[in-house]
Amino acid sequence: MLVLGIETSCDETSVALWDGNKLNYRITTQEVHRAWGGVVPELASRDHQRLIIPLLLEVIAESGVSLLDVKGIAVTAGPGLVGALLVGLNVAKGLSLGLGIPFIALNHLEGHLWVHQLEHQNIVPPFLGLIVSGGHTELVKVNDFGSYKIIGQTRDDAAGEALDKLGVLFGMTFPAGADIDKMSKDADCRAYDFPRAMIRDGLDFSFSGLKTAVRIRWERDRESVLADRTDVLASVQEAVVEVLVVKVTKAVEQTGITTVCISGGVAANSRLRELMAISAEKISYRVVFPSTTFCTDNAAMIAWVGRKRLTAGEQSPLDFPAKPGWTLESLRLTSG
Ligand code: KG4
Ligand code: ZN
Repeated sequence: MLVLGIETSCDETSVALWDGNKLNYRITTQEVHRAWGGVVPELASRDHQRLIIPLLLEVIAESGVSLLDVKGIAVTAGPGLVGALLVGLNVAKGLSLGLGIPFIALNHLEGHLWVHQLEHQNIVPPFLGLIVSGGHTELVKVNDFGSYKIIGQTRDDAAGEALDKLGVLFGMTFPAGADIDKMSKDADCRAYDFPRAMIRDGLDFSFSGLKTAVRIRWERDRESVLADRTDVLASVQEAVVEVLVVKVTKAVEQTGITTVCISGGVAANSRLRELMAISAEKISYRVVFPSTTFCTDNAAMIAWVGRKRLTAGEQSPLDFPAKPGWTLESLRLTSG
């Protein structure tokens, strides 16, 4: 079954074609938000509208197939920005109606959880998923396809959001995570001892105190902190990464589950990969990261999950709404 995947939940416009063997995809990260220091919802919707059809036509042409060969459509319906979600959802509904084929509305986080199977077929549940991006920091116990339990989540900012906001404070371009990663390679990540909030308390996360701690220092001694920007941001990254590693380690110990799959934009972080590998070696668990392309939001993961649900006979009604706050735990198990 050739499935078309569509992803427009935030600031990546992405389209993929997946037939079970061959995958073609395009991911465009919208540049329009850079000047604003964060994603502007209305601009995201407009850019999705501008980009989605040309991307779709490119992927179809590159795959050497016709739109008429597509047998099902998978689209992100939430969580995300409502206006952005509506663009992808309406394109999916229009194609479904016009082509007379089923479509399935998917939870974006379920895509992140299963993205690993695109590259590692031997990942089977139960496993622990850590979704860590600009909008999410969630630790999920994956019992089976469609059966998820959130065992830890951020109480305030997402990990990527804290990196982005602090990067912007120091004059970097949004999103700052990848640049902080690069600049930290030659920096002293122990130069500043920033707080690791809630590190001993359960599996939830909190990153807003870190932001405040840096801001207080910045306001108190702006000149020297700015001059030492590289070490400051490397220390920020270290604080974020250390909390993520400690919580994952704790989750492995508490659940006894020994496969951990990390996804989302922050999964591209080299220090996170390094410290997670050390922890995995130390307490004997397997840690899996997607290649960098699949860390970020993409339609390949949506096409993958969609194909699984569509081939199991599932489909969504044409009045399926965008669900900006859609939780993973409300999903159902599928027999596919
Ligand atoms: O998954 P994603 O593309 O979009 C959502 O936020 O949903 O993730 C983007 C986030 C941003 O916060 C960005 O700064 C962060 O991922 N990011 C990184 C790296 N690459 C992207 N953070 C740390 N290190 C990186 N190498
Ligand atoms: Zn995402």
